[in-house]
Amino acid sequence: MHNSGLNETVERPAPDPPALGLRQLTYADLPVVISIERRSFTTPWSPGMFVLEMSKSSTISLAAVQGDDRLIAYAVFSRYDAAWHMMNVAVAPEHRRRGVASALINGALERIEPDAPVTLEVRPSNKSAISLYGTFGFRSFGYRKGYYANGEDAMIMWRGDPALAGVPAESLSGN
Ligand SMILES: CC(C)(COP(=O)(O)OP(=O)(O)OC[C@H]1O[C@@H](n2cnc3c(N)ncnc32)[C@H](O)[C@@H]1OP(=O)(O)O)[C@@H](O)C(=O)NCCC(=O)NCCS
Repeated sequence: MHNSGLNETVERPAPDPPALGLRQLTYADLPVVISIERRSFTTPWSPGMFVLEMSKSSTISLAAVQGDDRLIAYAVFSRYDAAWHMMNVAVAPEHRRRGVASALINGALERIEPDAPVTLEVRPSNKSAISLYGTFGFRSFGYRKGYYANGEDAMIMWRGDPALAGVPAESLSGN
């Protein structure tokens, strides 16, 4: 049989990924969360750090799940005084770049007051995360010197007006 043409190598399209659901994170999720955490960060949170944040009434902790409640990502937001802090967000490496972190952040933002200022720290080298936060309107408001264990500075980002959280603009430098 002779070569019948280019269509011989056309692959079947990949099936759609299972629908994504959001639900509250529970202590029973921690083994899976810790496994994703260790694959996502050079200095991962310990189980105790998750337990501490999740035990607070002023914390929103969400799991992104697929199919039969398989956890593939999580986000933790905590309120301190007038500002919400995005404390942690991570997506299992094999599920990245499919809108999962965006769905989680969106879900958390829907659960807090619309005008509430939200802040976070991020490594300036973490271009993926900075780009992600930019899509939600977070802007850089300067740096926190030597914030990370390796001495790297943290970029401070805010969504909304930091002054509403009692943080005067003049205290934020290096924009
Ligand atoms: C950062 C992280 C949470 C993003 O999760 P994700 O589910 O892949 O993000 P999304 O698919 O929702 O991305 C939304 C947007 O963010 C930006 N973005 C996300 N990953 C990116 C990448 N690797 N490179 C460039 N832009 C990226 C893009 O603008 C993207 O939109 P697009 O895909 O339409 O271009 C994920 O890479 C991760 O878990 N990283 C390790 C942990 C981490 O760094 N957490 C943040 C700590 S501050």
